[in-house]
Amino acid sequence: MKLLENKWALITGSSRGIGQQIALGLAERKCNIIVHARKAENAERTLALLKPSCVKTHLVTGVLDSHEGVESIVRAVNELPDKVDILYNNAAIMSKWQPMWQIPQEEWLRVFQTNLFAMIQLCTAFAPGMKERGFGRIINVTSGIKDTPELTPYSVSKAAVDKYSRDLAFELRGSNVLVNYLDPGWLKTDLGGPNADHEVETVLPGALVPALLDDLGPTGQFYAAQDYSMLGK
Ligand SMILES: NC(=O)c1ccc[n+]([C@@H]2O[C@H](COP(=O)([O-])OP(=O)(O)OC[C@H]3O[C@@H](n4cnc5c(N)ncnc54)[C@H](OP(=O)(O)O)[C@@H]3O)[C@@H](O)[C@H]2O)c1
Repeated sequence: MKLLENKWALITGSSRGIGQQIALGLAERKCNIIVHARKAENAERTLALLKPSCVKTHLVTGVLDSHEGVESIVRAVNELPDKVDILYNNAAIMSKWQPMWQIPQEEWLRVFQTNLFAMIQLCTAFAPGMKERGFGRIINVTSGIKDTPELTPYSVSKAAVDKYSRDLAFELRGSNVLVNYLDPGWLKTDLGGPNADHEVETVLPGALVPALLDDLGPTGQFYAAQDYSMLGK
């Protein structure tokens, strides 16, 4: 089994849902984890679940729904004694279900800030250091959502995530900072809802694939976590 010993992964939104699974999956590969949540108490469960894997952990808190919030997360990470090797941009919000013609500007801004601009700010903060150190894995979580115009701020923000990931991958070509984007599948989480196709655990092992890529491996590529579900956890 390929291990990620001595590496550190920052996973946004790792207090629950898909982010929590990614944290547990990476920790099983011996990767040290920087857990992120909005508030410290939200992260308690993930930190407890990580204990048996014996990896090192840090916790950073803060919101992604404002530029200042992201800035404070970056500051907190930069004050840690360890550097980010793997940036898993997982956290996102769903937009409110409403007819396309009634979606206010504030809704577009709220969703784009949290799902796209925060991600860009985090990539901009951490990618240059990865490049300097000659190692980095950035994974941006996207979505396969389609044919739901009532949720268009969410789906358009995810389409922008895909394009941004490809542009960033091109910018970082040859640097061994690999940038890829991953669709977890429709999963039973707070965001996905109880009627989703799959249990949240099925995001593993697929979600680990872009974090485990060999040096100078694929970049700017799309991964679907469910393509790997037959491999089992
Ligand atoms: N579930 C699905 O079916 C599905 C399908 C396709 C794509 N995705 C994508 O997968 C990713 C994870 O989704 P999920 O279903 O695991 O979501 P979730 O269960 O709702 O969890 C969201 C996570 O993001 C954090 N978060 C939410 N709003 C935040 C904010 N304003 N500032 C900072 N952190 C915030 C939450 O932290 P707190 O606990 O502190 O609130 C939590 O850890 C998202 O990018 C989503 O778009 C999900």
